[in-house]
Amino acid sequence: MRKLIQLFIALFIVCRIEAQSVKVTFDAPSSDLIISRNIYGHFAEHLGRCIYDGFWVNDSLNVAKKDRLRLDVIDALKKIKIPLLRWPGGCFADEYHWSDGIGPRNQRPARVNSNWGMVKEDNSFGTHEFLELCTLLNCEPYIAGNVGSGTTQEMANWIEYLNYDGSSTLADLRRKNGREKPWKVSYWGVGNESWGCGGEMTPEYYSTQFKQYASFCKNYPGAPLRKIASGSNGEDYNWTEVCMKNIPNWQMWGISMHYYTVTGTWQKKGSATQFAEDEYFTALKKCLHIEDLINKHSAIMDKYDPQKKVALVVDEWGIWTDPEPGANAGILYQQNSMRDALIAASTLNIFNNHCDRVKMANLAQIVNVLQSLILTNKEKMVLTPTYYVFDFYKVHQDSKLLPVHLSSPEYKFGNESIAAINISASQDSTGNIHLTIANLDPTKKISINPSLGNLKWKKAEARVLSSAKFTDVNSFTEPEKIKPVTFNDYKVSGDQLTVNMPPMSVVVITLN
Ligand code: AHR
Repeated sequence: MRKLIQLFIALFIVCRIEAQSVKVTFDAPSSDLIISRNIYGHFAEHLGRCIYDGFWVNDSLNVAKKDRLRLDVIDALKKIKIPLLRWPGGCFADEYHWSDGIGPRNQRPARVNSNWGMVKEDNSFGTHEFLELCTLLNCEPYIAGNVGSGTTQEMANWIEYLNYDGSSTLADLRRKNGREKPWKVSYWGVGNESWGCGGEMTPEYYSTQFKQYASFCKNYPGAPLRKIASGSNGEDYNWTEVCMKNIPNWQMWGISMHYYTVTGTWQKKGSATQFAEDEYFTALKKCLHIEDLINKHSAIMDKYDPQKKVALVVDEWGIWTDPEPGANAGILYQQNSMRDALIAASTLNIFNNHCDRVKMANLAQIVNVLQSLILTNKEKMVLTPTYYVFDFYKVHQDSKLLPVHLSSPEYKFGNESIAAINISASQDSTGNIHLTIANLDPTKKISINPSLGNLKWKKAEARVLSSAKFTDVNSFTEPEKIKPVTFNDYKVSGDQLTVNMPPMSVVVITLN
């Protein structure tokens, strides 16, 4: 009898949770809060098989190409409208000398990529090839200049080579190398991780370096630069404080922050595909921690820049796991699971909801490295679950944010809990409203009742990304295991909406 009563109570609780509906309200959109398209930026580094093999392939590879640029990868990225690509690193940026990568390819010097696997860098992919890639992708370039092992003169020369329309030895060299008009590159990183691989500097020393380098990064006619300071490592708030204090706002368009979701330790990060619920939960908890970082760095920035003119640029983020078994540890290559899709969705919701300060972000790295959108294996190409999240979220680019109010149910694991649901919403220039919702709970369906106030809409359409297991991946043998499908588990009654979020899912809903 006791057992029966216990069973009845348990059933009652489960039914209550299933029936419970989470109320979500939104403030009206305003033109003060625009989700910059550059939040959806990416990062291509000379690391492992990102550039060589990912974008830039041998003539003998049997895929459609322009020069040696792989068009299947480019076409897939165009579909999700990538707005921005950061290059050449990462740590590689502070050992890259741009003049190695111009001129006839067979005369370019060979170097050692001493950050990533001590592999040969033949410099066949350099400035012209990168900017051609950006043209084909229809995205803006974001170049990280070398502070660590370069000079102010070297950086100044690169900018003149790229952006000067008049006649000078460097601009004429660009013409001789095949490019008549300047590219007018705008986003310019002054170093990378200057607290670490970029030179082990203190923030005091770096901020002085920044001012010196930035003084020689000239704005050529029609090509003003937006200079981005190398920012903090995760929780290093002192770095932000010192840089914001020492560098005048007019000299810096943005300051970066890097944050990786690492489930284990830096030495033993954890597998990309073999993990149980404890690691699933920890990864999501650590991913959500980025919101605390944004809040705290933003509060420091507010002190020195109350008008929010300086952007917080999260120019490296994503999950970093151990490399796939068999992969060269020095070059980094990891698979991408349903867990990664939830990490991408939640992080992008956080960025959207903080678009007053976060104006740019770059997922690391776009092809064949950490949380990649695309994996390649010779002629084959796989779109990862993370790719589909970016496909869902592209609707937010340059749209007006609808600030969200939500008290999420908890996803509990052991003695800990995190918010099971996260959401962001926006209104695009045609008036359509887009909601992107993630349910992190691996077992519970959760009903949501978004209330859109005075915003009027007549019909809804939706897509969902989900999978049976959080370890599921798209592989070269099963490339479409996880892919978006039409989503119908929602109800519309008048202008009331109820969305039943499946466990472990990402949903995009458009109301028009
Ligand atoms: O993304 C891999 C490396 O992580 C980057 O090169 C560096 O900036 C960071 O430490």
